[in-house]
Amino acid sequence: MVTLIVDNKEIETQEGSTLLQACLDNGIYIPNLCYLSGIEDPPGSCRLCFVEIEGYDQPRTSCRVRVQQGMVVRTNTEHVRRLQKTAFELLLSTHHVDCRNCPANKKCELQRIAKFLHFGLKLKRLEPLERDIEVEHEHPFLEYIPTRCVLCGKCVFVCRKRNGQPMLSFAKRGFDTVISFFGEKDKAVDVCKECYACAEICPVGALLVKDSPNIPNP
Ligand code: SF4
Ligand code: SF4
Ligand code: FES
Repeated sequence: MVTLIVDNKEIETQEGSTLLQACLDNGIYIPNLCYLSGIEDPPGSCRLCFVEIEGYDQPRTSCRVRVQQGMVVRTNTEHVRRLQKTAFELLLSTHHVDCRNCPANKKCELQRIAKFLHFGLKLKRLEPLERDIEVEHEHPFLEYIPTRCVLCGKCVFVCRKRNGQPMLSFAKRGFDTVISFFGEKDKAVDVCKECYACAEICPVGALLVKDSPNIPNP
């Protein structure tokens, strides 16, 4: 076991654990969207899980740091919160917020993070950004709503883990990136109808099982 100090509290965790996992396991919440327990090489893409670590000049994303004996960590400094709010605001700039008509309402990670950071879901400083989001809607059992997708990649990770090879993947590039079932429709008929792991793991209302009464118009 490894012992570290987080926000002046001594915690214990398993050697090799990520700092984010160690904090979450010990009841210390750090905002996060793209991290999943068991992921070997966390993508570190949402830029929400910043913490300050003694000995480092700049805050670091805690999902990409492995714990070390005696580490001293702060999760709630002004600098950390500023970085988290900026990352969160950028995420929201491409997100169509319409919680009342969203099946994720009240169980959405964005809502949880907004509440934790005391940060509204409606943009204040930034203008909403329009993405080029042409996606196919032909999956037999699943509906993808790109204007709600935070590109966390959890759906791709769980699908690969469960089925060996993901039925869905990132498509396009940079700002226009989306999730796509490209090329996997035939296989999906057999695999997806017994699975739905992707829709279950989606932290927002972006991936839904078709024919659910909750499916809204994208
Ligand atoms: S995904 Fe979350 S924040 Fe976005 S509309 Fe749905 S409930 Fe609201
Ligand atoms: S569909 Fe959901 S799980 Fe997949 S990348 Fe988008 S937000 Fe993440
Ligand atoms: S959870 Fe660490 S960058 Fe997303």
